[in-house]
Amino acid sequence: MEGLFLNNKNIKNLRVFMDSLNVRFADIGDIKDIFTWQNDELSRQMSFTTDLIEWEEHSKWYASSLSNADCCIFICYLADSGDKVCIVRFNIKKDAVFVSINLAPTMRGKGFAKPCLKKAIDFYLENNPSTKPIRAKIKSDNIVSLKSFEGVGFVYLREDDGAKYFEL
Ligand SMILES: CC(C)(COP(=O)(O)OP(=O)(O)OC[C@H]1O[C@@H](n2cnc3c(N)ncnc32)[C@H](O)[C@@H]1OP(=O)(O)O)[C@@H](O)C(=O)NCCC(=O)NCCS
Repeated sequence: MEGLFLNNKNIKNLRVFMDSLNVRFADIGDIKDIFTWQNDELSRQMSFTTDLIEWEEHSKWYASSLSNADCCIFICYLADSGDKVCIVRFNIKKDAVFVSINLAPTMRGKGFAKPCLKKAIDFYLENNPSTKPIRAKIKSDNIVSLKSFEGVGFVYLREDDGAKYFEL
């Protein structure tokens, strides 16, 4: 993983951002924030299922995800204020681990996506050292997300049915 950012023109900013962020495992106390973020308009638009999520459905999904060994959910937060910035989720599948990110709507557009991804991936690898390849499946028109993943070293694999696949 060393040297992932050597080609990043914003390497200095990235480091500054990373120093201002912490990451931890999500817990039941995050259930409402994650519900709100996932039902935000842009989040629904950029998901592969665009329907609004009902609270009951979310509660069941969240509780089972927290106890599912094949799912790791992390929260990135600001080190000084503790304000939550995003959720980063790792879904462990047969051949690969799929990562996705969703920023709190108030935190978007400020350059947090790449440092949060980097921080969360490092944290995931610390806890799961011998992992499968890490991949991302992103809607082909989700330019900001595509840029974010490419910005932390993900490499384009293929496009299929409106989705682009990347691997770290
Ligand atoms: C995707 C998401 C995580 C990106 O976070 P963000 O805070 O909006 O993006 P950032 O400010 O960190 O910018 C990321 C990159 O996109 C660029 N960008 C930001 N807004 C842009 C816009 N409107 N058009 C084009 N590029 C844009 C930034 O310049 C940056 O690229 P750079 O490093 O090459 O300069 C966030 O928008 C989000 O949570 N979206 C909803 C859920 C989602 O789409 N998740 C991804 C599914 S895997």
